[in-house]
Amino acid sequence: MIIAHITDFHVGRVIETADGPMDLHDRMLDAIAHLRGLKPQPDLVMFTGDLSNHGSEADYIRVRQALRTLDAPIYILPGNHDRRQTLRRVFAGHDYWPQEGFLHYTLENYPLRIIALDTLWPGSHEGMLDAERLAWFEARLQEAADRPTAVFMHHPPFKTGLPYPDSLMCRNGDAFGGIVARHPQIQAVICGHVHRDVVTYWRGVPAYVTGSATFANGLILYPVDDVDPLFEPPTCRLFVWDNGRLTSHISFIGSYLYGLSEGVPKPPQNE
Ligand SMILES: [Fe+2]
Ligand SMILES: [Fe+2]
Repeated sequence: MIIAHITDFHVGRVIETADGPMDLHDRMLDAIAHLRGLKPQPDLVMFTGDLSNHGSEADYIRVRQALRTLDAPIYILPGNHDRRQTLRRVFAGHDYWPQEGFLHYTLENYPLRIIALDTLWPGSHEGMLDAERLAWFEARLQEAADRPTAVFMHHPPFKTGLPYPDSLMCRNGDAFGGIVARHPQIQAVICGHVHRDVVTYWRGVPAYVTGSATFANGLILYPVDDVDPLFEPPTCRLFVWDNGRLTSHISFIGSYLYGLSEGVPKPPQNE
């Protein structure tokens, strides 16, 4: 089983660069073309939020149109830049979401069970897991204690060592971590929001952040008030669940030079 994890498109934002404006809508199209070109295709795509920069309906429609070109099923969580009601309206066919309230859910039809947590806290760029959401999370774990499970959420509940995103992490991460530590079926906690790839070990499980598919924030290990966008190679992550073991790979979006050796076939040119 292969899960492609993609996050933080921020469609609607146009960033000025020394080479001219960078429209993140175009970067999104590159990212989706990258997903379409993966061989083999992932069994599912998890998209952990910040679909658009302003939560506007027009931008969500642009994202929806692009996502429709994917063959793999895609499952969406909200980030701090998203708006639940607008997401529900534009992505009305995404019936794994509850009819009302938080956009959290489980996916039961894969060898690795997925729990997707809605950490959106309207009006804040920080995330929130309040008592209601923590109770929902623990109940989902208790109902399937023997099923290996991966947890996806937008805001990391753990510190990354990057002070700026750490100031915008998920509130109540300690309480959440206590639940994680009590449920050994959890194989990983997987997040977005930071716009950099990060791996750590937290409350007994591997914990990942996948970088944005459209722009990065710098590797700034000291306090700053804000960060400027950085155009490192954008990434998505592939999680391979095989024989009871979860392995993660970073997949760089874009074209990079290959050094060809005699007898080695040229890599596929994914159009
Ligand atoms: Fe983001
Ligand atoms: Fe975010």
